[in-house]
Amino acid sequence: ADGGLGLDEAGHLGVGGVHHQQVHALFADLAEFVVFGQCVFGQGNENSPLALVGEAPGRFEAEQGLPFVGTAGKNLDALLAMADIRREEIYITNAVKFRPARPGKRAGTFTNRPPAAKEIARCRDYLLKELSVVQPEIVATLGNTPLRALLGQAAPAIGGVHGKLLKTDEFPFQIFPLYHPASVIYNRALSDALEEDMRALGELMRQNESADASV
Ligand code: URA
Repeated sequence: ADGGLGLDEAGHLGVGGVHHQQVHALFADLAEFVVFGQCVFGQGNENSPLALVGEAPGRFEAEQGLPFVGTAGKNLDALLAMADIRREEIYITNAVKFRPARPGKRAGTFTNRPPAAKEIARCRDYLLKELSVVQPEIVATLGNTPLRALLGQAAPAIGGVHGKLLKTDEFPFQIFPLYHPASVIYNRALSDALEEDMRALGELMRQNESADASV
C-alpha cells in the first residue's frame, strides 16, 4: 500500500529498522578518515526504489553529519520539488563518506576540494554495500564522481549520458546520470538540462511505483 516505499502503518519511513542498523554498521571503520567534522551517512528511505548519490560532504554536511544540507542541498531540494519527488521518500547518499578538505588561507580554516581517486576507491565498497542493503531500482548519480565510483575509468562522460537510463552487467539497478547541482549554477544550458532530467526521473519513479502496485 505504500508503493514500495517502506512506510509503516502511521506513514513513517523505515528509519530505525533493520535496514537502518545494517547501513550504519557498514561505516564503523571509516572513522580514521574523518578529519573534518563527522562521517556522513546516507539519509532517507532505506527501502526506496530510487537512490541519489552525490559526490562528497561539504562543510555543513560534515558539521551536521547529514548529506546535502548546505547550498548544494538547497539547490537539490528545489530540483526535487520541481520533479515532484519528496526528499523523505527517497534515499540520499554520497560516493565519499567524509569531507575532502585542505587548509584554507586563514589559519584554522579548511576549504572543500574534489575527492582524490584514492578516496573514491576507498569508499566504493561502502557505497556498493549500502546500495545492496537499500536495493534501489534506479541509482541517480549527481556529477562525475559517483558515476566513476560505480563504473570506474570506463565511465562515460556525463555530457553524453545524462538523463539516460544505463543498464550494466555489474549491478542489479539501472544508473541515471545527472549533472551535479553545484556544477550547473553558472551555466544556463546545463541547469536547464539538469531540471529536465530531474523531471524525467520523477516520471520514471512514478511509472515504477504504478507498475509495482499492479502486480
Ligand atoms: N555536495 C555533494 O555532492 N554532497 C553533499 O552531501 C553536499 C554537497
